[in-house]
Formats: sequence, C-alpha cells, structure tokens
Amino acid sequence: MSRRTLAVVSAGLSQPSSTRLLADQLAAATRDELVRRGESVKLRPVELREHAHDVVNHLLTGFPSAALREVLDTVTGADGLIAVTPIFNASYNGLFKSFFDLVDSAALVDRPVLIGATGGTARHSLALEHALRPMFAYLHAVVTPTAVFAAPEDWSGGVADGALRARITRAGAELADQVHRRSPSTGPADPFALTTTFEEMLGRQDS
Ligand SMILES: Cc1cc2nc3c(=O)[nH]c(=O)nc-3n(C[C@H](O)[C@H](O)[C@H](O)COP(=O)(O)O)c2cc1C
Repeated sequence: MSRRTLAVVSAGLSQPSSTRLLADQLAAATRDELVRRGESVKLRPVELREHAHDVVNHLLTGFPSAALREVLDTVTGADGLIAVTPIFNASYNGLFKSFFDLVDSAALVDRPVLIGATGGTARHSLALEHALRPMFAYLHAVVTPTAVFAAPEDWSGGVADGALRARITRAGAELADQVHRRSPSTGPADPFALTTTFEEMLGRQDS
C-alpha cells in the first residue's frame, strides 16, 4: 500500500464557501476511490484566501513568503490536484489565476488534476472548459475528462443533489484512476537540481 497526497485548492472568497464545499466533496470522492484500490491518502486542503496577501506580494517582489512556499510545494509535490474556483465574470477568479501564475510552468507536467467551479448560474458552467482546462493544458497537466460545476440549485442545505453527487463521484473516480496508475510522487522538484550534464551545458557532443 502506498501513501498518496492530494492537494485540494479552493479559491472561494466567502465564509462559508460553496467552492470549499465542492472541493471537499471532490476530495472525499477521490480519496474513497483510492482507498478502495488499496491506497492510503492524505488530503492537503489549501484555502487560497488565507494566502491572498502573500500571493500579491510574491507577484510584486518575485519571492514567496515561507508560508506560501510551503503551499506551492504542497501543490507541486502532491500525487494529484483538485483545483476549484468560483466563477467571476465568466472565468476563474483573480485569486485562482494569480496563484497558478506563481506555479513553475514545469511543476505540473503529467500531474493528474480535477477541475471544479461554483457559480451563481449554471449558464457559466462552460467556463471550466474555456478557462480552467486550457490553463492546465498549457501547464501540461493531465485534466480528468469530467469537470464539475455546481450552481446554487445543485445544493440542498449543503448537500449535493443526485445529479451533482453523480458528477462528483465520477470525477473523483477518474482522478483516482490517474493517480493510481502513476508511481508515488517524490515531492516538489528541486529548482536547483541539475537537469543536464556539464557536457551538455558546454554544448559538447559525444565523440
Ligand atoms: C465579482 C463577482 C463576479 C461573479 N461573476 C459570476 C459569473 O460571471 N457567473 C456566475 O455564474 N457567477 C458569478 N458570481 C457568483 C459566484 O461565482 C458564486 O457566488 C460563487 O459560488 C461564490 O463562491 P464562494 O461561496 O466559494 O465564495 C460572481 C460573484 C462575484 C463576487
């Protein structure tokens, strides 16, 4: 049995947050499926609103605070990522985008990702497909076929209704499958690690 970590990023601004609620349910569905497959799972929730000031400071200065560095390492070192945003003006919100602007462009290559969003109207559910999916495609992550959008009418008293519950279960199973197929993560990449030999750096070819 291997130990897997799932980073669960929520960019909701409200408290309580429907985005966090959706993120937690996606995480639980993924965990349950991984456990069913014999894996042990550690969930690492990340509430971006707690790091909003640090995110802006990092954008302005080029350096993360210690707390934000830990969060970035959590996200880039996890076996799988669940990324959920509220829809603002028909796209991800600014906090969500700003945070992922700080993730090294090579750090999520081949990383399984499940995307989700909440919104005031189901008419904006395709923001998942025209905004979030292309962003993670640019980062060369592996995004599950099922993305989950939750509108206010999909909840009754904080409980996902039948159709939303089915989408959550299916998306969680897809993410679990992608995580299960891969070797356990060895943690965040070392930004100072040498990826080329000295010969390659000097432009030499084998003689
Ligand atoms: C500035 C702003 C813009 C918004 N724009 C949209 C929108 O374009 N489409 C939509 O469906 N909901 C929109 N909403 C509603 C939020 O997406 C919705 O309330 C969301 O579920 C809030 O998530 P939270 O409870 O995690 O904060 C907007 C809300 C705000 C504050």
